[in-house]
Amino acid sequence: MPVEFGQSFRTNYLSEVEDKLIGQNVTVSGWVRKRRDHGGLVFIDLADFSGRLQLVFSPEDANAFAIAEKVRSEFVIKVVGKVRKRPEGTENKDLKTGLVEVCVESAEILSVAESLPFSPDDLNETKEETRLKHRYLDLRRPEMQATLRRRHSVYKATRRYLDEKGFCEVETPILSKPTPEGARDFLVPSRMQHGSFYALPQSPQLYKQVLMCSCLDKYYQIVKCFRDEDFRANRQPEFTQIDIEMSFIDEKDIQDMAEGLIQEIWKEVENEKLNLPFPRMSYDHAMLRYGVDAPDTRFDLLISDVTEVFKTIKSDMINETLGLGGVVRGILIPDGASFSRSTLDELTSFVSNYGAKGLAWFKLESSQLKGPLVKFFDQENHAELIKSFSLNEGDLFLAVASSVSVVCASLGALRVHLGKKLELIDPDKRSFVWVEDFPLFELEPSSSKLLSVHHPFTSPKFIDESDKQKLKDDPSKLKAKAYDLVLNGQEIGGGSIRIFDQSLQKEIFTLLGISEEEAKLKFGFLLDALSYGAPPHGGLAFGLDRIVMILSGAESIRDVIAFPKTQKGTDIMVGAPGNANLDQLMELGIKVLADKS
Ligand code: AMO
Repeated sequence: MPVEFGQSFRTNYLSEVEDKLIGQNVTVSGWVRKRRDHGGLVFIDLADFSGRLQLVFSPEDANAFAIAEKVRSEFVIKVVGKVRKRPEGTENKDLKTGLVEVCVESAEILSVAESLPFSPDDLNETKEETRLKHRYLDLRRPEMQATLRRRHSVYKATRRYLDEKGFCEVETPILSKPTPEGARDFLVPSRMQHGSFYALPQSPQLYKQVLMCSCLDKYYQIVKCFRDEDFRANRQPEFTQIDIEMSFIDEKDIQDMAEGLIQEIWKEVENEKLNLPFPRMSYDHAMLRYGVDAPDTRFDLLISDVTEVFKTIKSDMINETLGLGGVVRGILIPDGASFSRSTLDELTSFVSNYGAKGLAWFKLESSQLKGPLVKFFDQENHAELIKSFSLNEGDLFLAVASSVSVVCASLGALRVHLGKKLELIDPDKRSFVWVEDFPLFELEPSSSKLLSVHHPFTSPKFIDESDKQKLKDDPSKLKAKAYDLVLNGQEIGGGSIRIFDQSLQKEIFTLLGISEEEAKLKFGFLLDALSYGAPPHGGLAFGLDRIVMILSGAESIRDVIAFPKTQKGTDIMVGAPGNANLDQLMELGIKVLADKS
C-alpha cells in the first residue's frame, strides 16, 4: 500500500522499505522501539503500524547523530536517509525489512516520551491490569495491531458478503427498552422523565423483527450489545454481534446463508476454504455425549450412559440417586489405568466444583476390574460392567452418579479438562458444528416455571398435530426451531425462526407466566407489528468478538477488543464507571443509597 496522505512525514511505511529500494532516498516516521550504541554508530529500530526498520546514524551527519544520542524509547521521530544493503552477516531474516537499513542524513524529534510503564516489546512480564491501564502502549504491540486489523477484515468480509446477498444495514437504537436475552439490563436514567429508564439493548432482537414486518426483507447490523452478566473469558458486558434477519425463509436458508458468511470470513482472514455444509448435531445428542450444548468436537472422549448396568449395584447412595431420577454416566480413557492416585484425587476435586459428590473410577488391569465401587457389584456382573464401559486392558472409566444436570455439567467440564491435560486437542483445528432441535422451554429448578431456552420469540417446532397438542398438555416437551453454531466448543452464533402469528406469540407469553397486561406493556409494539401482516421470518446473531478470538488464537475476548472491560466491569484506562456529581444526580432525580459493598 503506497503512502497516499502525509507525504511530508513519510514517503514509505516502514515495512515497505525493502531491498528493491536500495540506493533510494526515503522519508520515514515512527516510534523508537530500540536504540543501540555500537562503536561510534547508533542503531535505532523504528516501528510503525506496518512493521520495523533499522536506522543507522553515523557521526558524519552531526545533526542527525546528535538527535540519535538524545532519543529514548517510544520517542516519535521523522528521518530522511538513503536505503542501503546491510553488511553481510548482519541481516535479520525474521524481519520483512531485515536485508536493508536506512543511513540517516537528517532527523527530527516529533514527540518525546516519558519513561514507560512497560515497553511494547516485553509483553510477558506485564500484568493485564497494567496493559489495560496503558492500552495505547499495549495496542502498539505488533500482535495487537494484527488483531485490530484481523477484526477489521472480519467487518469487511461480513459487509461484502451480506451486501452481495442483498442485505441492508440498519442501525437500531441504543437507548431502548429491555430485550429478554436472559441477562440483567444496563439502565440509563431519563432526565426528562424522572423515574424512567432506558435499557441498553441486550440485542436488537425486537427491532429486527419489526424491520421484517416493515418489509425490509434482509437486515443486518454490526452492533454493540450490552448484558450485565457474570464474566467469563468469552463474555464481556459490552460486545459486538453480527446481527441478521431474513423474511420468507426457513431454518435451512438461515444456516446456508450463515455458513456462506463464515466461509467468506475464513477466506478473507485465513485464506482458507472451509468445507460446507457444517455437520449437524441434535441438542439431546450434544448433552448426552458431550455434556454441554456447545460441544468441542476436535477430540473424542465421549460420555456414555451406564445407568442401566448400575441398577445392579448394592450401594444405597447410588440407588437413592437413581430412585430420584438420577443417572450414571462416564468417560472411557484408553490406557488411563496408569493414572496415579493423586491424579484421580485431582479429577475428583475438579468435578466437585460442578456439584458432583464423587468420581468413581474403574480400571481393567491383569483382566481384573478394579475400583472402589467394584465390591458393590456381584462378581457375575463384572463382565457386563466391562462391556458397558467398553474397557480394554489398561483402560480407565471415570463415572459420576447424580441428577442429569450435575452429571452433564461435571462430565462436560471433565471431558474438556482431560482433553487439554492429555493433549488431545489440536489447537490449529477448526471444528464447526450446528446444534439444533433445542427444547423450546426449560424448567426453572426452584419454581418449575417455564423459561425460554433461546428467547420468547422463538417458534416452536410443530412437526405434526401431536406437537400442537403438546403446547396445551406438556409444553416442556416441545422442540424449538432454533440453532446454534459452535466452533471448538464455543457458541459463536445462535438464532431461530420466529413466531409470526400474534395469537401464538400471546400463547407463548402466557406459558412463560407473562400476563396479558405485562406483555402489552413490554412487547405491545411487537404484538401490534405482528397483527398488521407479518411475513414468516428468522435470523441469527454471531458473536463477532468470539470469532476474532478464535481466529487470533487468543484465550480471552479481552485480547481482541480495543478497549475491553476488566473482570470487574471497569475500563481502567478511562476510569469507568465513575461517580456522578450531585448536580447531575439532582437533574436526573436520583439519590444514591449508601454503598452496600
Ligand atoms: P444470543 O444471546 O445467543 O442470541 O447471542 C448471539 C451470540 O452473541 C455472542 N454473545 C456474547 N459474546 C460476548 N459476550 C457476551 N456477553 C455474549 N453474549 C452472547 C455469542 C452468541 O452466540 N437475538 C439473539 C439472536 C437471534 O435469535 O437472532 C441473540 O442475541 O456468540
